[in-house]
Amino acid sequence: MPATVLTPNLLTQTMTSSQPTIPSRGPRRLLVTGGAGFIASNFVHHWIERYPGDRVVVLDALTYAGNRSSLAAVEHHPNFRFVHGNICDRPLVDSLLEEEMIDTVAHFAAESHVDRSILGPAAFVQTNVVGTFTLLEAFRQQWEKRGKPMSDRFLHVSTDEVYGSLGPDDPAFTETTPYAPNSPYSASKAGSDHLARAYFHTYHMPTVITNCSNNYGPFHFPEKLIPLMCINILLGKPLPVYGDGQNVRDWLFVRDHCSALEVVLHKAPPGETYNIGGNNEVKNIDLVHQLCDLMDELAPDLPVRPSRQLITFVKDRPGHDRRYAINATKIRTELGWTPSETLETGLRKTVEWYLTHRHWWQPLLSSEYQAYYQQVYATTP
Ligand code: NAD
Ligand code: TYD
Repeated sequence: MPATVLTPNLLTQTMTSSQPTIPSRGPRRLLVTGGAGFIASNFVHHWIERYPGDRVVVLDALTYAGNRSSLAAVEHHPNFRFVHGNICDRPLVDSLLEEEMIDTVAHFAAESHVDRSILGPAAFVQTNVVGTFTLLEAFRQQWEKRGKPMSDRFLHVSTDEVYGSLGPDDPAFTETTPYAPNSPYSASKAGSDHLARAYFHTYHMPTVITNCSNNYGPFHFPEKLIPLMCINILLGKPLPVYGDGQNVRDWLFVRDHCSALEVVLHKAPPGETYNIGGNNEVKNIDLVHQLCDLMDELAPDLPVRPSRQLITFVKDRPGHDRRYAINATKIRTELGWTPSETLETGLRKTVEWYLTHRHWWQPLLSSEYQAYYQQVYATTP
């Protein structure tokens, strides 16, 4: 059945079969941190399309990973506001929460790339741990002032990487899998998850935590595996595969992550944690093969064809987690969420997007990015 969205928030909505009915509620006032980044910019588009009557305030420091042009389509929406600032800046966060009467925080802002966390972990501790703490404290103060409404939400968006690495036959991560982070990135995210959890248990503040698998889709910064491969194929550059290419990741199309966060915001009880994943476990080398084949099919004039010729095995990432896999049974059975895209349909959409959005990714290949690239791929031709 097609989506017929009536008056968002006020009436029950009829949606596609994969999206459950959301209970009615008055308009929300959201603070979206890291809204110029990959997942949060998709989330902002998703939310404004679905709930144009809600207030959406983005707070983003515009680090190398933040890109204002990812928000161009909503920039002039009357209920949208962009604020350039840091989540560690407590006076700024306090004033935003107060003047915008924020009742919902969707916290995405983070340093998010494992390779960068190996090169420079300090920024990860600062933004991911101290920044999350700053937001939690500021929100607690406002929430208490406003009489502790239990309909408020502090959504802490996290990763499956906090659970560590799986062996080939281990069962997928569930919400009760013990934390065992292996990189400075995942360790800093684990620290922030524990803080969000503690704010519910100690202060009864309505936090919810989500741990999602690897995302892919539009507006993904070129340093991550899927956009990096798409762009290097288009430029005829080597495709660097770490180690033996047998590491496994569980991929989810970014808009499916956004729809999961939507149901969590609307339906999850305070204090809960949900794993989010698409049940798409793939070895890196198989994924790269799929991307090469899709590019060969869809791109009219590639510099090197077939693009599989560009695959180059390079030195492995230190401490490289072997396998991630998400068991998403809890969000499916308790909240009724399932993804809409298969890996095949999602990858096709993603490749098509990179083909038609050169104007978005080309400026990101700056001299700063080239310097980072040289450092990580020192041995790549
Ligand atoms: P991203 O790196 O693309 O974007 C991060 C955004 O946060 C950028 O816009 C950046 O400018 C902003 N930012 C960084 N430090 C900031 C600070 N101190 N103050 C304000 N803004 C700051 O990240 P992403 O891949 O979109 O990930 C978003 C969130 O989702 C992260 O918390 C990440 O841990 C989590 N997550 C990501 C994935 C994935 O596959 N990418 C999977 C699961 C969970
Ligand atoms: P990445 O997109 O960095 O996500 P994460 O490390 O958070 O899972 O990497 C996905 C997988 O791809 C991971 O196993 C590392 C591997 N990888 C490569 O083989 N080559 C690359 O150039 C990159 C960036 C990643």
